[in-house]
Parts: sequence; structure tokens; C-alpha cells
Amino acid sequence: MGRTVKIFDTTLRDGEQSPGCSMNLNEKIEVAKQLEALKVDIIEAGFAAASPGDAAAIAAIADTVRGATICSLARCREQDIEAAWNSIRRAESARIHTFLATSPVHMEYKLKMTPEQVLESVAHNVAFAKKFCSDIEFSAEDATRSDLDFLCRVVETAIKAGATTINIPDTVGYMIPQEYASRIKYLREHTEGIENVILSCHMHNDLGMAVANSLAGVEAGIDQIECTINGIGERAGNASMEECVMALKTRADHFGIGCNIETTQIYRASRMIQTITGVAVAPTKPIVGANAFAHEAGIHQHGVMANKETYEIMTPESVGIPKNAIVLGKHSGRHAFEERLHELGYTLDHEKLEKAFEKFKILADKKKVIKDRDLEGLIGAVPVSGEE
Ligand code: KIV
Ligand code: ZN
Repeated sequence: MGRTVKIFDTTLRDGEQSPGCSMNLNEKIEVAKQLEALKVDIIEAGFAAASPGDAAAIAAIADTVRGATICSLARCREQDIEAAWNSIRRAESARIHTFLATSPVHMEYKLKMTPEQVLESVAHNVAFAKKFCSDIEFSAEDATRSDLDFLCRVVETAIKAGATTINIPDTVGYMIPQEYASRIKYLREHTEGIENVILSCHMHNDLGMAVANSLAGVEAGIDQIECTINGIGERAGNASMEECVMALKTRADHFGIGCNIETTQIYRASRMIQTITGVAVAPTKPIVGANAFAHEAGIHQHGVMANKETYEIMTPESVGIPKNAIVLGKHSGRHAFEERLHELGYTLDHEKLEKAFEKFKILADKKKVIKDRDLEGLIGAVPVSGEE
């Protein structure tokens, strides 16, 4: 596979900004270590100027994690940039990520700045950040609602001032995939110096298209996807890392683009974020939801047992899902039931299996999901072969 895309994880920054998702120092370090195990390329560890606690957590991650670039967010302000640098300066590899809004509504009502003032601020603050660190990312906040020719000027200014990565975020989740791809194409054709920098996407999920938009961006020449575990993030969240990565892997025939992620660490990361934040993953959530690999209907289970490819486009093992995370229910057939018993170490003769299966169906009518411990209880109630 020739081309690879960098995975920039912002679970600890944008993800943490989602309601109820704040994490303490130890939790952040634990998540950062899991991101290291996942082999993400860049960890956005926080927003140093936001609070002393955030700055301390970023510094602790910079001291602990190896292999990934550690990044801190900063507004286009000197104090923010200094705080960002102080938090990441001990990292093996460090990045300052500075941003400024470029859409008419943000410039007029939030920043109260003219477009010319925005250009001056970008030139000044990117150059200021460059004094501390060679790896500088600039994001044009609300890029997808910005005037395209103005956006080209902003990006050109950031590149001239020393930015090495340019992020084109869909801050409010407004894009549709084809539209984002054509914006990227336009930028690539009309911005001087753009061929010398890493182009990044950062998509929000307000219309449920964050992953589709990220992939459309990648097809249009984007080199870095910004994403979060379980898709947590502001409002409806960010592009989910597990979905972006597994789409690239499962449809390598289409994309022909790889990434460095150790996919067998995905499930562990998802469970960790679920436990730490207390934000539950929906059962139907792709890749990591409880039902993502649960073939409840007997026909489906039978098919999967004959050949997994009948109903599985990727394997649970490839994302690190342990066997006992896959559930049986009232639609499950005898084959799935028997196979699961085998996996648990039980071999029943025909008569005992029939009895156990009857009990299983009765229990499944009462309980939505039958877990391994239910099966063990049920088998306990039926004499197991060789034990009589
Ligand atoms: O959504 C956004 O625009 C952001 C920027 C700070 C990159 O999170
Ligand atoms: Zn964001």
C-alpha cells in the first residue's frame, strides 16, 4: 500500500469538550497510554491555556508517552502559544496547534475582527509559535462556511509564516462529502505552497456525516484525519476514529490508503473511554457497539458459522473484541448455542443439548441478552456430559 494517512486523535481535547466527558489527570494519562498502544500518530493532549489542570495533564502526557507527537491547542494569542509550548516542550516530538476563525459570522460576531485583521493575526501568531517549535498546525476554524478565496489567502499566509500542517475543519458539521472534496480540490489548486504541507480534516457530526466527510477528504488529498475514540466531541461529536480506520482497512480495495493504527487495540480504547466518561456507546454503534458483531437471528448465525464472510465484512478479532462480548438472544439458533458452549468448554450429548437449548429459549424470552454467565448457570441446571 503506497499512501498512508496520519491519525490525529483529539479525544483528550475536543472529546473532552463534550458534556460530561471531562477527565482527571490519571484518567488522561491512562487514555494517552492507550492511544500510544493504538499507535496514533499525533495525540492532541489538551488546551494548555484552558486551565492549569489541563496544562499539567498535557505536560504529564508529554513526559510519559513515546512514539506519538504530543500536541497542545492554542488560540492565536501569544499567552496561549507560550502555555502550549510550556506544556509540550519535554515531549519526544511536539506540536503547537493554533487556530483562528475565518467565516464571516465568526469574524463579525465572535472575533469582532475584519478579514485583514484575521490575516495579520495568523501571520503574527504562526510566526510567534514557530520560534518555539518546528511542527506547527494551523486551523481555519469554521473553514467550511468561509469564503473559499479568503480561505486560500488565510492558508497561504499561515504557510508563509511557517505552518507545517493546515487543518480545514468542518467546525459545525455542515458539509456533505462531495462538497468537502471539491473545497479541498479548490484549495489545492489555488493556494501557493499548499503542496509542501500536511493537509488535515477535522469533521464534526452534526448531520451524521463526519466519517463520510473525512473519507471524502482523504480521497481529495487530505493527509491527516482528526478524530476521537467513540466519536465523542463538541455537540454531536467528532469523526469516530474506529469508523474512519476500519473503513480504510476494510475497503482498502477502494481507498488504497493505509494508516498506522493497531486495530486490535480499538475495542479496549472504546471500553476505556466508555468507563472513564460514563458516556455509553449505543448498541448499534459501528465497530464497537454491543451489536456490531452480534448475529442474533438463527439464519445469520448459521451463515456466519459456515463462513464468516456471509454476514461479516470484518472480524471482531481485528478490532480486539473478545469472544464473550458477543451476545446470544432469543433469535439465536441451536448451532450458535452449541458453538458457544464448546467455546466455554462444555460438550453435551444430543439429549442434554436439546434440554439445555429449551431452557435457553425460555430464558431468552425473559431476558433480552444471554451472557456467558447465564449459559453457565443454565448448564449448571442441566447435567453436563461426563459428570453424571
Ligand atoms: O472544530 C473545530 O474547528 C476545532 C478547531 C479548534 C480545530 O475543534
Ligand atoms: Zn472540533
